[in-house]
Amino acid sequence: MISNFETLSFSVSDDIGTLVINRPDKLNALNIQVLRELKGALTELKTAPLKGLILTGEGEKAFIAGADIAEMKPLETGEALAFSELGQLVTLAFEALPYPTIACVNGFALGGGFEMALSCDFIFASKNAVFGLPEVKLGLIPGFGGTQRLMKIVGERRARELIFSGRNITSDEAKILGIALDIFADKAQLLAEAQNWFKTTSKNSLMAIAKAKFVLGQGMIEERKAFADIFQTEDMIEGTSAFIEKRKAQFKGKIL
Ligand code: COA
Repeated sequence: MISNFETLSFSVSDDIGTLVINRPDKLNALNIQVLRELKGALTELKTAPLKGLILTGEGEKAFIAGADIAEMKPLETGEALAFSELGQLVTLAFEALPYPTIACVNGFALGGGFEMALSCDFIFASKNAVFGLPEVKLGLIPGFGGTQRLMKIVGERRARELIFSGRNITSDEAKILGIALDIFADKAQLLAEAQNWFKTTSKNSLMAIAKAKFVLGQGMIEERKAFADIFQTEDMIEGTSAFIEKRKAQFKGKIL
């Protein structure tokens, strides 16, 4: 269904796609080739007739151990910006898929790998999963949308603690923090349960799920629109005038 890529493999079962990052000798670290191939694959996946997608990493040891540190090391500012943009585009493309997505995290999900998982709708973790944003330990910061997405999930204070400390968290803590939806014994069970989970959503209206997903991802645009919509309404004029004129506002009680 999707083109052949060197660093990715793809299969479909019962209308659920499984996309695997396939670079196990480097713990599936995200180099430019992987990111470019992911971007290409996601363009194809956006219009694929699927009911769900599983994202996982090849091998038993890692989901994705981060962006490729060796490849990042020599980058100049402009190249680093392009690298971050490419990573962000990939995470945005995961979010923009119209059907539900689950990141199946087995082993390490560090740095860009954690960020990739955060851009899926859910994370299912195996018992041995390890999550973390260790960038500050390398003199770096997260650059694939992780600061923003983590903050939305765990709250600003906890996100600061995790990003400033760069510490690893276990699957148990990830579940407590709302990062992982559920924990499973091993990789085989993890993938089987994710496949099984889609049986529920596959029976629902995929059109409605796609719309709900769109709205959930559009918070900022909706907020901006709603903010702009109420400008120069009677209530807005009354409220701001009353403040300036140092009196109590007399609202009409109408709803837009
Ligand atoms: N970028 C590039 N290469 C990576 C990598 C990364 N993020 N993570 C792992 N690798 C490579 C290693 O260099 C090693 O390659 P080599 O065999 O050619 O030397 C291979 O993957 C296996 O990793 P190794 O470190 O030997 O495994 P380990 O079990 O001793 O340690 C980790 C596993 C995950 C703790 C360790 O690899 C690590 O700390 N990786 C970096 C994590 C990180 O900081 N990610 C955020 C990047 S911004």
